[in-house]
Amino acid sequence: MKLNKLFKKTVVGAFGFFLATAVSAATFKVAIGDAAGGTQHELGKAFAASLKEKTDGKYTADLFPNSQLGDEQDTVNDAAMGLLDFSILAINNITPFSPSVAILTLPYMIQSLEDAKQLTQGDVGKELTENTIRDAGVRIIGWSYSGFRVLTNSKRPVKTLDDLKGMVIRVPKNELMIATYQSWGINPSPLAWNETFTALQQRVVDGQDNPYITVAAMKFDEVQKYITNIRYLFSLEPLIISEQVFQSQSPEVQQAILDAGMEATEHSYQYLQDTEQKIKEELVAKGMEINDPANDEKEWIEAATSQVWPKFYDQVGGKERLDEVLKSLGR
Ligand code: MLT
Repeated sequence: MKLNKLFKKTVVGAFGFFLATAVSAATFKVAIGDAAGGTQHELGKAFAASLKEKTDGKYTADLFPNSQLGDEQDTVNDAAMGLLDFSILAINNITPFSPSVAILTLPYMIQSLEDAKQLTQGDVGKELTENTIRDAGVRIIGWSYSGFRVLTNSKRPVKTLDDLKGMVIRVPKNELMIATYQSWGINPSPLAWNETFTALQQRVVDGQDNPYITVAAMKFDEVQKYITNIRYLFSLEPLIISEQVFQSQSPEVQQAILDAGMEATEHSYQYLQDTEQKIKEELVAKGMEINDPANDEKEWIEAATSQVWPKFYDQVGGKERLDEVLKSLGR
């Protein structure tokens, strides 16, 4: 009887251990909007390596760049429904699902990489992460810092708002970005990210804006000639996990995911500083022409801040909230 009990205990125990081991492993799918070689892919690679290391190889992440798993905005829906594990996408493609995130995309809100780091890693970032779980069913666990979105076009050098007149500029389906171009005197064309290269190539649109590293990764130099160094939006590209998927993990795995996200964020912060200038030079070597906006960008800044900000006070939690955030940035 005793022996039998011991046998049962051992066999059942071993089986239980086997089961626990068998289910304590997974390969996650990570959607990436941009082509390989950009800041999004770099964040994904760093995350995958860190997660593997932290879980002794039991949890891995497969990366699917170039919108293979769908357009960036669609991946938010898929992750919310638990159909996709992770996605790395531009912040402006999360705003439609979680409106308060707009505080990070108000034109000229973020004026440096340090502002970007402080906002994403400080209290504002924590609050936006909570809001995004509540509103969109996805949790931000890491950030790539991609640099300012510069304007590119195939027609002519643009330095003033007058130069911009008559151009057809593609923007993401993002109210703030649409309003910003309207404040600059043109009606932009909202278009999904995965349709942008073809639209530029076929000259359905003349231009678009994205960071230097993204312009290079997407090979926009093949279809665009001129760059204007505007600095209205600092591109933040978060790594999100489906909240359903996150909640179905053990506390240890959740912690490993969060830690890997933090490590990947640190890597991205360094990567931008090590890479952006080199990419800029490569784009010039490939024939692109870079111009600065005239007069220190004053007319661009004035039009956008005076016309766009007031329209979005409510969405970002009110003017007082915005003033508090500006104060925390020393403005
Ligand atoms: C967009 O323009 O839709 C995004 O910035 C694309 C991206 O993720 O780089």
